Amino acid sequence: MYRVALTTPDDFDGWRAAARRLAMQGVDTANIVWQVGDAGGDLFGDAPLPPDRPSSGFSVARAFVDLAQSAILHSDPERFALLYALLRRLRDRPGLMEDKADPLLRRVDMLAKAVRRDIHKMRAFVRFRALEDDAGPRFIAWFEPDHHIVRANAGFFLRRFASMRWSILTPEVSIHWDGDVLAEGPGASRGDAPADDPVEEMWKGYYAAIFNPARLKTGAMLSEMPKKYWRNLPEAALIPALVAGAQAREAAMIATAPLPEKAPPKRQGNSATVWAAIRNEAMTCTRCPLHRDATQTVFGEGPLDAPLLFIGEQPGDQEDLAGRPFVGPAGQLFDQALADAGVDRSRAYVTNAVKHFKFERRGKRRLHQSPDAGEIEACRWWLSQEIDLVRPRVIVALGASAARAMLGNAVTISRTRGQAIALAGGAEGWVTVHPSYLLRLPDKDRRAEEQARFVEDLRAIGTRLKALA
Ligand code: URA
Repeated sequence: MYRVALTTPDDFDGWRAAARRLAMQGVDTANIVWQVGDAGGDLFGDAPLPPDRPSSGFSVARAFVDLAQSAILHSDPERFALLYALLRRLRDRPGLMEDKADPLLRRVDMLAKAVRRDIHKMRAFVRFRALEDDAGPRFIAWFEPDHHIVRANAGFFLRRFASMRWSILTPEVSIHWDGDVLAEGPGASRGDAPADDPVEEMWKGYYAAIFNPARLKTGAMLSEMPKKYWRNLPEAALIPALVAGAQAREAAMIATAPLPEKAPPKRQGNSATVWAAIRNEAMTCTRCPLHRDATQTVFGEGPLDAPLLFIGEQPGDQEDLAGRPFVGPAGQLFDQALADAGVDRSRAYVTNAVKHFKFERRGKRRLHQSPDAGEIEACRWWLSQEIDLVRPRVIVALGASAARAMLGNAVTISRTRGQAIALAGGAEGWVTVHPSYLLRLPDKDRRAEEQARFVEDLRAIGTRLKALA
């Protein structure tokens, strides 16, 4: 019998080193005891592990390593043995990783999926509370993961909150960042973390203001935000009351709903607070990988009661540096076209489908790259909150990415241009070209022609807006 003592429950390197030596010797799964910590070692006359033979040419598919790195974080005590069994099978059947019907592979795959979900939940539901000490604010969060994901998730929090001092306490392990060094400590209990702090009231206010009873899907909410995490979320204290009142509020909303030709009702009162809270959240958005290379999130701007809302594609090089939409060359062309069309830009809210600059580096230059469907979809989270807050009468999509963001699916500009589209929520949608498209047209005459057409589109939209007012 072989006994393998791993140092921690997520000790992938320890598992890999031992598994490799045992598999090379053809040791059967049933003859290995996997354990965390070294209690009980050698008491039963266990055999020493076979020697390693680094030059033996032992290698496994990358797909297996990726899967094993996730699955090993699962809390199932069988995971080490299951992975070892899969490793051995893979030695005999190199194509096994493609066989999605294989029961063992499916079981391990389910472990890995559960782990990935848990990682996502930790990222979404950790809430820090502020404490003051001599060195300034320090942020503490309490979280109860289902699996051994805390170390694997540390890098995410470190990147996201690099400039803050913070600790995440969990029952198994605590991680602490002091601005320089990431340290690990023993597990903690809920009482070790503060229960509230001064920003909590503002967060609750924000949540209550954006809660839309017509969109209440209790099932989806519970599967996305399991009740066990509610205790950690300041805003969750409001959920039972909001859910209880949702039906009545929805009925009231339907009763007072505008006729189709009427504008969506404007928000009362606290739009600026809500907008600032959404924008603040967006500043640390990691919903897609674009945040990694961009300088900052470029959120929309303009009057929060604007009757007109423009959607561009994404910030360009200058917008990325300035942190404001449409301030570069495309923005200048856009401003001029609006002026030529007699549309008052100061009455419009201007934003983008995607809030981070996507580019490819060429020497010192950063060359624009179009966002893909996944990036647009990830960023609709923010766009829909902007639209929901501003509730414009008319929304104009500039170009194909913006049209996809506005409509939720891909459309051809030439086919949709010049038509009013009834949008969910009551606004009227219009599609036209993006100003950058005009800047890229190489032929001068063609550019002038297209520019004039763009101005005509904007003029028609301005006229329509006046008719709707
Ligand atoms: N292009 C866009 O779509 N948005 C900007 O903010 C700048 C250029």
